[in-house]
Amino acid sequence: MKKEKSQYSESTNVPGISEFFVQKLLKKLKTLPEKVEEIGEKTAFQWVNEMLALYQGYRNFLSANHEEHFKKAFQQKILVLTNQSAVLKYCYDKPRGYAGDFGAMELIWSGRQGPKYCGYTGLGAYLNAFTLETDNCRANEYRVYYLKDRLIKGSYKIIASIGSGSALEIVEAVRDGYLKDSEIHLFDQDDGALDTANFGLRDFSGRLVIHRGNVLRTILKEKEKGFDFIYSSGMFDYFDITSAKKLTQRLWSKLAPGGCLLITNAHPENPTRLWVEYVTEWDLEYKDSDEMKSMSEDLNDLKNADIDMDPYGVYQYLSLYKR
Ligand SMILES: C[S@@+](CC[C@H](N)C(=O)[O-])C[C@H]1O[C@@H](n2cnc3c(N)ncnc32)[C@H](O)[C@@H]1O
Repeated sequence: MKKEKSQYSESTNVPGISEFFVQKLLKKLKTLPEKVEEIGEKTAFQWVNEMLALYQGYRNFLSANHEEHFKKAFQQKILVLTNQSAVLKYCYDKPRGYAGDFGAMELIWSGRQGPKYCGYTGLGAYLNAFTLETDNCRANEYRVYYLKDRLIKGSYKIIASIGSGSALEIVEAVRDGYLKDSEIHLFDQDDGALDTANFGLRDFSGRLVIHRGNVLRTILKEKEKGFDFIYSSGMFDYFDITSAKKLTQRLWSKLAPGGCLLITNAHPENPTRLWVEYVTEWDLEYKDSDEMKSMSEDLNDLKNADIDMDPYGVYQYLSLYKR
């Protein structure tokens, strides 16, 4: 994480301040159910978000050593509450052995369709609903609609999703009657993700090709014939910029003339970052817009590149068009 210059000297009683902040948050979270009943869900969730935004500001001014204290104090008191929420517990536990698995995306997607109040305790249910209403979860839902729209509007013949997960956006597009004659290639290393996608696409009338394994190997083996649309969503967030550039080069070489390569990545200013990182231990390789743009360097036959940002300030969408 890029840090501002530390504001506090090492002699400042940051552990004391952090402890005070955590106590205040603890109280807020414990009284969330009553607050929702009293002032309504939207205002009550905003009431928590304002405190988290304040704490993110505080965090930005901490040295690495001080931040360690803050995170530890936070987790010691707060995890026992947040792990009562179904989605937060799943994200914290990482049952598939790694962060960023398709199961978390499925939980967010289906959770946002409702019911949102799902937890192991009453309070856990409220914290679950709170989390599903954060900018991060809204942005994840938006991502499915954004990609679905790009798939439909592009009228592409041969499509590849890299790190497809369960390919929610393709399932949604197919369910609505689109992509009938397309050839769709799904690349993922997680059998569970691909099996779920395969099931979701059981009525798909086009050609579905599934590539199991690490994409660094499977994409290399793929036929030379180009894809019209290659996209990777929710996967570059786990690659540092050097690896991301290498993967971009590889994907670019598989793109047909006139095709488009689309890459998503979370932005460092993600407003839900404190909650995501402290409560779920979910650390991403955030990239700012300059780093995103740098991924288009040295691409042969690049016609143009543009970046969209979602309305929540969480995910960027880099589109690279080939001549
Ligand atoms: C967060 S999910 C994203 C799923 C979906 N594309 C989306 O937008 O929600 C990331 C997916 O990338 C896959 N993945 C991560 N690294 C990979 C690699 N090196 N090779 C193949 N798949 C990978 C994971 O298995 C997981 O299904």
